[in-house]
Amino acid sequence: MTQNLADTSRPAAAPIAANAGATRGWWRDAVIYQVYPRSFADSNGDGMGDLPGIRSRLPYLRDLGVDAVWLSPFYASPQADAGYDVADYRAVDPMFGSLLDADALIRDAHQLGLRIIVDLVPNHSSDQHEWFQRALRDGPASPLRDRYHFRPGKGENGELPPNDWESIFGGPAWTRSTDPDGTPGDWYLHLFAPEQPDFNWENAAVADEFRSILRFWLDMGVDGFRIDVAHGLVKAQGLPDIGGSDQLKLLGNDVMPFFDQDGVHEIYRSWRRILDEYPGQRIGVAEAWTPTVQRTANYVRPDELHQAFNFQYLGTYWDAAALREVIDVSLDSMRPVDAPTTWVLSNHDVTRHATRFGNPPGGTQIRTAGDRELGLRRARAATLLMLALPGSAYLYQGEELGLPDVTDLPDEVRQDPSFFRQAGQDGFRDGCRVPIPWSGTEAPYGFGPTAGGPSWLPQPAEWAELSVEAQTGDPTSTLELYRSALAVRRATPALGAGSEVTWLDGPEGTLTFRRDSVEGSFVCTVNTTGEQVLLGAPGRVLLSSAGSVEVNAGEAVLEADSTVWWAV
Ligand code: NOJ
Repeated sequence: MTQNLADTSRPAAAPIAANAGATRGWWRDAVIYQVYPRSFADSNGDGMGDLPGIRSRLPYLRDLGVDAVWLSPFYASPQADAGYDVADYRAVDPMFGSLLDADALIRDAHQLGLRIIVDLVPNHSSDQHEWFQRALRDGPASPLRDRYHFRPGKGENGELPPNDWESIFGGPAWTRSTDPDGTPGDWYLHLFAPEQPDFNWENAAVADEFRSILRFWLDMGVDGFRIDVAHGLVKAQGLPDIGGSDQLKLLGNDVMPFFDQDGVHEIYRSWRRILDEYPGQRIGVAEAWTPTVQRTANYVRPDELHQAFNFQYLGTYWDAAALREVIDVSLDSMRPVDAPTTWVLSNHDVTRHATRFGNPPGGTQIRTAGDRELGLRRARAATLLMLALPGSAYLYQGEELGLPDVTDLPDEVRQDPSFFRQAGQDGFRDGCRVPIPWSGTEAPYGFGPTAGGPSWLPQPAEWAELSVEAQTGDPTSTLELYRSALAVRRATPALGAGSEVTWLDGPEGTLTFRRDSVEGSFVCTVNTTGEQVLLGAPGRVLLSSAGSVEVNAGEAVLEADSTVWWAV
């Protein structure tokens, strides 16, 4: 007997009212979709996505079934790091539109029942930010210099950097400035590119400014902030040397004098007080790469932020034992602070999970296409596993289409600053940032308004088959799997809610767990092996990542690398 998918019709989302979510933390089990603005939808045909483009596609996101949308930065920026170098935190970059467009986008989203989370970049500004420009122009005596980390160099003539810190994008974390008279001056700190000078969070003007920026966007109606480099704002006193040669890897999670310092938490406590002044439960989500999930839990204590990405989970390979361990540690770590775990498999900084899982284990920056079919099969299963866990989950645009990373981009089109600073040794983030395909048979596949028109990174020819249009209505497509999964999740309160999973016995290489709620129970079975596995059918099939499920005399066949959701 073959069991088919359950009825996945779902209650329509209602508009977000000003006091929405007042009684229940909406974020606790929310599914939040990351839009990378330059690669989502281009309304004016310049090859770069923009806010009107995103606005026109909001109904797609509502129908997909997500609760909220996180927008990567769209602020005024010279784009040295794709907008993570902000020159004006209260302005929209003209390439993305205007403040009026942002306002219209937020209003439309709320009408459709979608919340909007914007990115906040408080660790560093652009070197074109007015403060930094004045600090350079006005010379060493400028009080504005204390808003950044300016230091004299070492060596006889100050020709050596003040300490041995390395930039995450490669090379020293210091660049020497030039004084107004043209002579070499002090050095300034930049954990990322030289165009991204780090703020000095000991300076009260910096803290005041960011509280004001928070209010600016909260007054615009946003529902929360994703906080960039949330673990980096405070540096150890005296900026001590680290020693050793193997310092930093891109988004590494080692203990460093510039990462995960205890002082950051005071900042988040002050931000929480501001968020709580506003109606409707506005949230903060930390991008904090910490050494352990236990350290991540510090960011979501009751008086701090609401969510923190679980990067330990993101970094776990497709392996039942490893997954079980990271799930247990994550849930155990978050329970004492009464925060949900925030699961994530892909974002704009890591190789997409459809490509990671088609390669042998190798971290989050993979350069080879690997086995596409295997990667997609595992990615679909991994997504159903993630969406069955208690807590919130983030999706990255295009993963619902099963997009792989583009691993063969020519060097001349790449824009990731780490690519240039490491002589091509790293910096392969462009591969997950290629504009997504919407429709048609010719690039840019509906990303822009005209067939044959530009896109800032070229899309592969085979993406015609992966477009939203091509996948819509095809029950075997990854897009329809995501739509069904999100519909079932909405209709099944046991998914997402609570903070417990009950593990059940199963064959090696598989995971089986039960989730209970007052409305009923739910079982998730995961087969991470490359072989079919037989298992006593725990109930009625709700959804499977591998099509229909064979059940014979109470025994279910779990396909290789698949996840099945069961109602019990
Ligand atoms: C993390 C962001 O996600 C990444 O894209 C950026 O390069 C760094 N922070 C620096 O802002």
